[in-house]
Amino acid sequence: MDNIVVLTGAGISAESGLATFRGPEGLWEGHRVEDVATPEAFARDPELVHRFYDARRAQLAQAQPNRAHEALAYLDAEWDGELLIVTQNVDDLHERAGARRLLHMHGELTNALCLNCAERSPVAGDLADTPPCPWCRAPELRPDIVWFGEMPYGLDRIEEALMRADLFVSIGTSGAVYPAAGFVQSARYRGAHCVELNLEPSQGSSFFHDSRQGAASDLVPAFVDELLDTQA
Ligand code: OAD
Repeated sequence: MDNIVVLTGAGISAESGLATFRGPEGLWEGHRVEDVATPEAFARDPELVHRFYDARRAQLAQAQPNRAHEALAYLDAEWDGELLIVTQNVDDLHERAGARRLLHMHGELTNALCLNCAERSPVAGDLADTPPCPWCRAPELRPDIVWFGEMPYGLDRIEEALMRADLFVSIGTSGAVYPAAGFVQSARYRGAHCVELNLEPSQGSSFFHDSRQGAASDLVPAFVDELLDTQA
């Protein structure tokens, strides 16, 4: 068991106080996901979308990584083989916990993307205030978030890692959003052992060899210990 790909979703950050997307009422912080997470929504009402993500960023500044983020960062530090942590999350809790071999496939809340020059920059202040791009000075920054209908980041690198993976671990994701929801099938087809750690069985649960239910802050540290024991 040398090469590992880990996929994380909103469930890993739930115990840090960040809301998941598909909660009991099917709303994300009071909004339908389509009303704030599509290019059409941004074209229709940029201020609403900016205020929404500005609020998420402010909330993130108050949140801390939990034991699940810390356990993955420990795995990253200790694992001798290849590892890629692919996160669908736009929060920065993995890196704040110390993870390095990390790819944000849906972008990052802490970055802006300029619609004029296509450069990325760290967000300082609220984007609803339409600050200028630090590169070209145009006041045309949008959140650097991959919205529905847009191409996720890093798909070539992810595909390559999945091809070589001996183990695929999916943590805290409902398996409702492609292409991430299909990674388990790619990994399994190429012979990886597939494990799911989630509060409840995900939509793709039957594709996993092993599906464990519980809170990420319990399951992930225990699973990382198991893995590191195999290396010892
Ligand atoms: P979802 O909200 O769809 O799913 C979160 C999953 O985490 C659910 O299956 C929960 O049961 C599980 N969960 C909740 N609390 C947990 C805990 N404490 N421990 C373990 N599991 C827990 O979130 P994602 O699957 O991440 O995309 O959503 C995928 C994408 O849909 C997001 O990246 C986002 C959204 O639209 C974009 O913004 C582009």
